[in-house]
Amino acid sequence: MIPIILDVDTGVDDALALGLALTARELSVMAVTTVAGNVDLEQTTRNSRRVLDWLGAAAVPVAAGASRPLLRPHSDARPSHGPDGLGGASLPTRQSGPILDATAPEVIVRTARRYAGRLRVVCLGPLTNVAMAVRLEPRLPVLIERLVVMGGAFAVSGNVTPVAEFNVWSDPEAASIVIEAGFDAVWVGLDVTTIIRLTRVEWERLARLPHATARLVYEVSRWAFEECRVESYALHDPLAVAVAARPELVAGERARLAVMTSPEEKRGQTLYVPDTNATDVVATKVDAEAFLRLFRNSLGLADGNERVTARSAVDAP
Ligand code: RIB
Ligand code: CA
Repeated sequence: MIPIILDVDTGVDDALALGLALTARELSVMAVTTVAGNVDLEQTTRNSRRVLDWLGAAAVPVAAGASRPLLRPHSDARPSHGPDGLGGASLPTRQSGPILDATAPEVIVRTARRYAGRLRVVCLGPLTNVAMAVRLEPRLPVLIERLVVMGGAFAVSGNVTPVAEFNVWSDPEAASIVIEAGFDAVWVGLDVTTIIRLTRVEWERLARLPHATARLVYEVSRWAFEECRVESYALHDPLAVAVAARPELVAGERARLAVMTSPEEKRGQTLYVPDTNATDVVATKVDAEAFLRLFRNSLGLADGNERVTARSAVDAP
């Protein structure tokens, strides 16, 4: 089992990523750290705790982190995730799990020291918490076995501006600090995540599945399919979690990265130069069918699946 921390700005796809992380047999979730992103910090923390509780994983500790980017005001993504950031999901509001006094950066550092050389950190929101953790513990890139970052748009258009992806655009200074720190990192950007989509047809099929994971996917997807009226939406964050569990799902190339912080029209643009000696890998191809099998099987989304139970760190060996 791979010990992981999920750093999230729960959000619709973060919620699905939490579900995948809790059910994928390769992963053991040690903690969830929250950051302002899709919605504000209080809401991302509330949403994360609701999802954990709903999936029977309330034992997974949650630590709140940055309420805004390092240097900039917080900008949310409510139009894509709904006013509550959870797609208007009709799920219980119970949040019975522990919320730690320690901050998200402190929890990242402490857990990295405890699992020295084994911990994978899966970054699903702006990189503010990880940047602050590096400032706390400069040895973090050595202590953490691998960073998996949902972020960047390397050879494709952005989703906030023509050149920038939301997580990197939100806090480009934090992304720069993370890149300069020298982590062994896999960047799962829009180049591959936009290929991985949940379709309306699949969503409508989930309506009749009773178990908690299928209800989670169905309920958080309401905003996309009922309000935004899209025919599909990208599973950005679940793909990053899947890559933490099964790196072979993507192919990539080692590259030296940089992030533009100015001028404003270039803010958050991710640049890369292929370099076989670099510590960063940019994902360029994805086995979409293999991902969808993992996603459906782990979450029990195929018809007639047995009830899927989430496993929290407490249960993990
Ligand atoms: O650009 C997509 C990313 O931004 C995802 O992590 C989504 O949840 C938002 O945080
Ligand atoms: Ca996210």
